[in-house]
Amino acid sequence: MTELTEFITGVPKCELHLHIEGTLEPELKFALAARNHLTLPYADAAEMRAAYDFHDLPSFLKIYYEGMAVLLTEQDFYDLAWAYLIKARAQNVRYAEIFFDPQAHTSRGVPFATVLGGLRRAMLDARRLLGLRAELILCFLRDFSAEYAMATLMESLPYKEWIIGVGLDSDEKGNPPVKFAEVFARARAEGYFLTMHCDVDQENSTEHIRQCLDVIGVDRIDHGVNALDDPALQAEIAGRGLGLTVCPISNGYVRGDLGHRAIRRMLDLGILVTVNSDDPAYFSGYVTENLLALHEALPLSLEDVRLLERNAFEIAWLPNAVKDRYLAELAAFSPS
Ligand code: ADE
Ligand code: ZN
Repeated sequence: MTELTEFITGVPKCELHLHIEGTLEPELKFALAARNHLTLPYADAAEMRAAYDFHDLPSFLKIYYEGMAVLLTEQDFYDLAWAYLIKARAQNVRYAEIFFDPQAHTSRGVPFATVLGGLRRAMLDARRLLGLRAELILCFLRDFSAEYAMATLMESLPYKEWIIGVGLDSDEKGNPPVKFAEVFARARAEGYFLTMHCDVDQENSTEHIRQCLDVIGVDRIDHGVNALDDPALQAEIAGRGLGLTVCPISNGYVRGDLGHRAIRRMLDLGILVTVNSDDPAYFSGYVTENLLALHEALPLSLEDVRLLERNAFEIAWLPNAVKDRYLAELAAFSPS
């Protein structure tokens, strides 16, 4: 191992863009299918993996949603989250803000409380047994209606203490941020932090980022790489200290390159860019692999890596005293 790869492997990390349903590995799909008496259309995990064939956001999302059919019980959601949290701990993720897609489950008859209960129980165990702190971000599916999003927001309110913020994901085409302006205004009034996906190279990408800033008033943006296409957006994001949660390996799948040049530029401009994993079970890479892939494409210096993680802790929705503890741990880190 080189000094840099050793540094990337061991550095204390903060994960801010991870869909828990995107951590569902084929092996776990088979185990859950067996427990729930379901038959999968593949002989084994290797055959399933080999059938993953996506080249853009819609082709990925089709496979992503199909995979969720095995998630039915509270224990299934616990097992999903626990498997991720163990992996994250092994990569020295110290803190994670984790997306979940309740409508991908309530729309197939799985109750909201079942989903949230299982995820939350695993996160409590991770805090106690692994020393890994985590919070949940409820994502609305933007290809469903604003009314369904509002109903989901209302359903979440009794569990407000367990949800730190709300996000917006799924297929961006024809589903701009303003479609959900009322939902996000209400979420803000209820005390949730706000973020939204502005996926890479979408139709009207820069207009969607502009809406996030001017209409929604987001606290950060997921992806958002196309902000660099518009000097005014770029300046405003830098000036406001708005964080971007970028996912290089995922970008490689849906866009054809890792977005490494954009990340380099954002680091040089002082934009609070971070590196994250998105859907690691589908894109074959958790946060360490994403940092390694970025390094291979660029390369990164040791202090670039520390800066990427510092940005992530800085833009995390943590109380300041806790944030300062993680930042001190990161500043003191050296691999030897
Ligand atoms: N849902 C899960 N992963 C996503 C992504 N990368 N973009 C939009 N929606 C998603
Ligand atoms: Zn995402």
